[in-house]
Amino acid sequence: MAGVVWIFLFFALSLPAWAAPHSEATQECLACHVEATPGIVSDWQRSRHAEVTPADALQMAPLYRKVSSPKIPQSLQATSVGCAECHTLNPQTHKDTVEHNGYDVHVVVTPRDCRTCHVQEVDQYGQNLMAHAHGILMKNPLYGNLVEAVNGIQVLGSQGLRMAEVPAHTNDDSCLSCHGTRVEVQGTVSRETDLGEMDFAVLTGWPNVGVGRLNPDGSKGSCSSCHARHAFSMEVARKPNTCSQCHKGPDVPAYKVYQVSKHGNIYASQKAKWNFSSVPWVVGKDFNAPTCAACHASLLVDEGGNVLAQRTHRMNDRLPWRIFGLIYSHPHPKEPDTFSIRNGQGLALPTNLDGSPVRSAVIDAQEQTKRRETLHGVCLGCHSVSWVQGHWARFEKTLEESNRMTRTATELMQKAWERGLARGPQAKQNPFDEPFEKLWVEQWLFFANSVRFSSAMLGSDYSVFDNGRWYQSKGLRDMMRRLEMGRPGAVNAKTR
Ligand code: HEC
Ligand code: HEC
Ligand code: HEC
Ligand code: HEC
Ligand code: HEC
Ligand code: HEC
Ligand code: HEC
Ligand code: HEC
Repeated sequence: MAGVVWIFLFFALSLPAWAAPHSEATQECLACHVEATPGIVSDWQRSRHAEVTPADALQMAPLYRKVSSPKIPQSLQATSVGCAECHTLNPQTHKDTVEHNGYDVHVVVTPRDCRTCHVQEVDQYGQNLMAHAHGILMKNPLYGNLVEAVNGIQVLGSQGLRMAEVPAHTNDDSCLSCHGTRVEVQGTVSRETDLGEMDFAVLTGWPNVGVGRLNPDGSKGSCSSCHARHAFSMEVARKPNTCSQCHKGPDVPAYKVYQVSKHGNIYASQKAKWNFSSVPWVVGKDFNAPTCAACHASLLVDEGGNVLAQRTHRMNDRLPWRIFGLIYSHPHPKEPDTFSIRNGQGLALPTNLDGSPVRSAVIDAQEQTKRRETLHGVCLGCHSVSWVQGHWARFEKTLEESNRMTRTATELMQKAWERGLARGPQAKQNPFDEPFEKLWVEQWLFFANSVRFSSAMLGSDYSVFDNGRWYQSKGLRDMMRRLEMGRPGAVNAKTR
């Protein structure tokens, strides 16, 4: 114990003069944790949470203010936002709470905890598809087939390859690493540490920072998907590397497209001169080409202080379309619980198999116009109206054409199902697991999506020879040939 006191004194004396005062509880946490988890303590010390009290933050003028909750409890206002302030919030809702050196501490700090001070960000994020990504994937029977077709363990039986069940930890390690796991409390365990014996919560599906994680307090998401702890920095979230963690694969190539785009090139060569911390973000002064955040989330102003776009954690209020095609692109869905939609074929998809949207499930033309104008407000900070309209008209034509190619592929697929070359929905079988079906999946999941993302975010290589139109046209020919040959063939795929 004497050691602890010594560490505490050393730590208290070494605090920089500008730091906000820390609560007594947090000082106790720090005294041990500077030894138990020094990386976490130093990360936190460099964060805004260590430097600014909620009371001071509330004083800022609206455009500059970083706490959006009008009423922050008095008990939290006068000290920094420290270990105790986050890890002991809302104990009544946290099943992961354990008694920890005199405090009721939970390890999984959730969006509901952040909401105490950041109500607007948390409520907006709740309307983003990201917050619902776990349910969107796991509650949709058709998507369940896709999970199985990719993750299922294959075994060779007397009848050929057979698919065994998907183990839960395989899903956690695969799809749910991005989409978000279900974190559940199994109980507690005692463990000897350098500072004595302590109890810890035993959690399943953890660690994980997936965007739609289901938390033990019933909330959804993990703010550290983009604001890695314990810096919780805005700078990190504004840089494209953060989004690359999940938005990169051949199915969702936003980051790859961005990297080769003019915008991405300017970012790569100029970023050292940009200011990634200032609020609001001034177009032309702080940065001169957009990052993912600038187009999709940031509060942007011009040098005169006029707002070009309001900050949003909802993000889809700048998205008239859902360009990610499963299987077609379409107007953005109205609600994030897309698993409850049924199309004409009874499948949980917002489009019918011929490509027409399920009208009741998607936003109308008026809402699309509103969202387009919001997004264009960003572009117009740097471009003329004709430049932006020219780009947009071409992009929307490309969406139509990528859908036409997907429809051709789907017609071939339907013929193959009819002729028994594969067993699909009509036979109540997984429509994604057989060789012919895998050719069809690649048509929309990799090639059509690549074409669409390239057109939206300006990276031509990915629209043509790198997973784009070349493979789309080649794949259709392969499908046609296999249909004519009348027997299932081997898969011919380019993936990463
Ligand atoms: C007497 C020393 C001590 C004090 C005081 C203390 N901790 Fe800890 N804490 C530890 C040690 C040691 C660990 C275990 C680290 C490891 O897993 O190696 C730990 C672990 C944790 C964990 C991780 C739990 C898990 O399930 O992995 C959290 C969160 C935590 N402490 C928060 C706090 C907070 C918040 C406070 C103040 C309210 C605090 N601690 C006070 C020593 C302390
Ligand atoms: C998908 C990525 C992403 C996730 C997830 C995310 N954020 Fe953010 N956040 C951002 C970006 C990008 C910015 C910078 C916005 C700007 O430039 O105006 C930001 C900024 C912020 C800010 C600073 C706002 C200000 O007024 O300066 C706060 C506070 C914040 N986020 C809280 C949260 C909370 C709480 C969560 C969890 C519900 C969360 N964020 C989840 C991307 C994300
Ligand atoms: C702004 C809120 C906030 C503050 C302040 C905060 N934490 Fe955390 N902490 C989190 C979040 C969020 C996580 C991630 C939980 C998850 O994703 O399950 C976390 C995770 C942890 C973990 C487990 C992570 C790991 O890598 O093992 C420990 C230990 C921890 N915090 C200790 C601390 C200590 C010590 C302090 C003070 C220096 C502190 N925290 C301050 C929000 C906070
Ligand atoms: C007790 C109130 C409180 C809680 C709880 C809280 N924050 Fe904060 N947050 C603040 C304050 C105060 C600031 C600094 C405001 C300023 O600099 O003007 C801040 C700033 C931020 C920023 C901006 C950082 C930057 O680089 O500009 C982000 C992002 C953020 N918080 C995310 C989170 C997340 C995520 C959680 C939950 C894990 C959380 N906060 C919990 C009060 C809180
Ligand atoms: C590396 C991160 C990552 C992994 C791993 C991942 N996904 Fe995704 N997934 C994404 C992203 C990002 C999107 C959103 C793309 C967009 O909106 O443009 C997405 C979207 C989806 C969607 C569309 C959901 C909707 O809104 O209708 C489905 C279905 C899907 N993924 C299935 C899967 C399956 C099945 C697996 C595992 C076999 C998987 N994903 C693994 C990142 C990932
Ligand atoms: C931990 C993984 C992860 C990270 C990091 C991440 N995303 Fe996502 N994002 C996803 C997944 C998964 C989806 C698809 C959710 C679905 O459709 O079910 C998605 C969907 C989206 C969407 C569509 C939202 C909607 O409501 O239509 C946008 C826009 C987006 N992400 C932008 C970003 C940006 C910008 C960043 C970086 C600042 C980022 N994402 C970081 C995983 C991630
Ligand atoms: C120049 C602005 C711009 C930049 C920079 C940008 N995007 Fe986009 N993004 C767009 C446009 C335009 C669309 C298509 C709009 C729509 O879907 O209605 C789009 C669509 C998306 C979607 C698909 C949403 C859907 O509904 O299917 C995701 C996810 C996404 N972007 C993520 C990112 C990521 C990650 C980055 C950075 C690596 C990024 N964007 C950079 C403009 C941008
Ligand atoms: C912060 C400033 C900024 C913003 C915001 C911005 N751009 Fe750009 N954009 C540029 C710059 C600079 C170039 C490079 C022009 C050149 O080639 O000389 C560029 C290039 C382009 C190009 C040409 C790409 C090529 O390779 O031919 C298109 C198209 C474009 N932007 C569309 C958009 C759209 C659409 C938006 C909004 C969704 C947008 N931009 C937002 C600064 C910006």
